Amino acid sequence: MIDLGLRSGLPINLDLNSMKIVSTGIKLPRVKVKTIKKIKEVLFNQDVKDLNPYKMYKGINLTKDSKIFKKHNVRYDITFVPAGKFGKEYAKTYGHSHLSEIYEVIKGEALFLIQNINDRDIRLYDVREGEKLVIPGNYEHNVINPSDEPLVISNLISAQSKINYNFIKNNQGMSYYGFIYKNKIKFIQNPNYKLLPKLRRLRPKLGTKISKKKPLYQQFISNPEKFSFLQKA
Ligand SMILES: [Fe+2]
Repeated sequence: MIDLGLRSGLPINLDLNSMKIVSTGIKLPRVKVKTIKKIKEVLFNQDVKDLNPYKMYKGINLTKDSKIFKKHNVRYDITFVPAGKFGKEYAKTYGHSHLSEIYEVIKGEALFLIQNINDRDIRLYDVREGEKLVIPGNYEHNVINPSDEPLVISNLISAQSKINYNFIKNNQGMSYYGFIYKNKIKFIQNPNYKLLPKLRRLRPKLGTKISKKKPLYQQFISNPEKFSFLQKA
């Protein structure tokens, strides 16, 4: 059992036996498992077997805080990406776009790939435990687990944010695939995208309003106005 309390600010654990997020203090929403069939849609090689799918918990809150989330039209989610590979690629999420969002790494290390193809802007953020990353609205994005450890991330998102998967589905994934090469990650262009700009590798930078260290959940509860940007693109 891995205690996620300190980083998340919530009484939750990662149970490695059941491969689930568990809690004795809060009633968690029903887990949503991305099916293997869906994940394969965004892999370079779609013949992969023995995939360990990732899991999502959408709309987590302490009972006492539910009014604040409702009033500000925001949802707090957790995603668990198990360690492991998807064939020759590192485990990753599907990828999508919507209004602005903020993510936080609760456990493990994450690579966030974000892209705006029209603006020829493709960035890869290396985000470590406790760090946060803002995703601009309408940027497609996914997260890759580049390690042999489980990855747990949280996000705050507008409850009315419409999620668009079509662009990613039609292109068989994001613009770059994270292949395993000599035990490291190597990014290879997705051939369905034409004339791609180079991938820029960056570290996350936050505006002054959001604290780097304090859990997102607590920051939202103590000052929800700071997160009004989530309602915009
Ligand atoms: Fe997202």
